[in-house]
Amino acid sequence: MTAASGWTPVALSASIEAGTSAGTQINGFEIVVWRDNSGNAHVWEDRCPHRGMRMSFGFVRGDHIACLYHGWQYDTGGQCRYIPAHPDLEVPSTIKIPSYAVTERGGVIWTCLKETADASALPAISDDVTPIRSLYIDRPVEAIAPLLPCLPIDGADVSMETLSSGAVLFTSGEVKLLIAGQSVAADKSALHIAAIGAVDAAARKSIAKWAENARRAIETAPVTPMAKVA
Ligand code: FES
Repeated sequence: MTAASGWTPVALSASIEAGTSAGTQINGFEIVVWRDNSGNAHVWEDRCPHRGMRMSFGFVRGDHIACLYHGWQYDTGGQCRYIPAHPDLEVPSTIKIPSYAVTERGGVIWTCLKETADASALPAISDDVTPIRSLYIDRPVEAIAPLLPCLPIDGADVSMETLSSGAVLFTSGEVKLLIAGQSVAADKSALHIAAIGAVDAAARKSIAKWAENARRAIETAPVTPMAKVA
């Protein structure tokens, strides 16, 4: 679970419904994650080229997203297609928002801040998962993985398998979780957590409660040299 150099998780798939957008950061770089009405996810720089408004404040209309400020509309490639103040203008191709490769796997949206990327580097994990929640933690992402073995679910033994840089398979008793770590900023992380397979509502609630307790334990754990380098 290291800072992003390749694919990095940015949201649970279930958190970004069709026609919605959300802002987040990768190592302090602001991005918008949005889903068009056809269900395709997109990750772009979170900045309108006009006056710099965050696109995550915008509105999704079909396969376009419109900036909140002056309503400029962008297609799924990030190209501006319509400027309300100049409705007859053929918009120059230079008015474009940088867009990044995006893939969904294991119930998580991943990007790598490049236009294209090799999806084979993503964790090999089934899409048969139950989303639990995204957990925002005031600790660097590198400090978290070494603490997870000390956080059993209902006292059951813990084992962990590294799936890729940024993702682990966490097993405690009968529960198996994909925990995908996003480095939001130097001292802030997001863990996107999904249970492997189908779990019932009671189990989901219990895992969500474990996650909340884990967040508290991680934030209050002493910062040790080992936690910094693992
Ligand atoms: S800042 Fe986005 S349309 Fe003006």
